[in-house]
Amino acid sequence: MLRELKKTDLPAVLPIEEAVHISPWSKETFETCFRSGCKGWLIEIDNKVAAFIVVSLHADECHILNICVAHEFQRQGLGKELLQHTLQYAKSIGITIAYLEVRRSNTRAITLYRQHHFQLIGERKDYYATVNGHEDALIFAKNLQQSA
Ligand SMILES: CC(C)(COP(=O)(O)OP(=O)(O)OC[C@H]1O[C@@H](n2cnc3c(N)ncnc32)[C@H](O)[C@@H]1OP(=O)(O)O)[C@@H](O)C(=O)NCCC(=O)NCCS
Repeated sequence: MLRELKKTDLPAVLPIEEAVHISPWSKETFETCFRSGCKGWLIEIDNKVAAFIVVSLHADECHILNICVAHEFQRQGLGKELLQHTLQYAKSIGITIAYLEVRRSNTRAITLYRQHHFQLIGERKDYYATVNGHEDALIFAKNLQQSA
């Protein structure tokens, strides 16, 4: 079941965030995000949170801040479902562009974004920390008005 992400979901969301991301968001980061009006959705399977997405919607832009699928539910279409839902919602409220940053090495996520016709529009050198240094962020964007 796909539904809106609420602050009360944090206890279920945080362990997934910590298990899956290289530099996970803290509880405080999620709380700040909620306070500043971010929106999100999650997918539950058998009453268990399996995946979630968090976005910031401002003016005509949708910034995809976090998309995360629990290890045991990866490669089952949940990331795709969350991304499609988010893009449809954004388009329905008049948003014209969606964008995101992703680690250069994150080929799984990049494949997902390219599948949804995101295009590479820029790079940020050494944007992310790694275990032994830094890596670049790639910035992808999609024009929602031109998409079906
Ligand atoms: C990236 C992520 C969100 C994808 O979610 P998912 O539910 O596993 O992916 P889906 O099953 O919806 O797959 C969608 C597409 O992504 C790509 N993909 C997903 N997993 C992949 C893998 N292991 N290898 C190659 N491509 C992969 C494929 O193109 C796939 O489409 P296909 O199955 O038709 O070939 C998920 O792997 C994840 O949470 N990763 C860790 C956190 C992260 O990197 N988030 C993104 C930060 S920018």
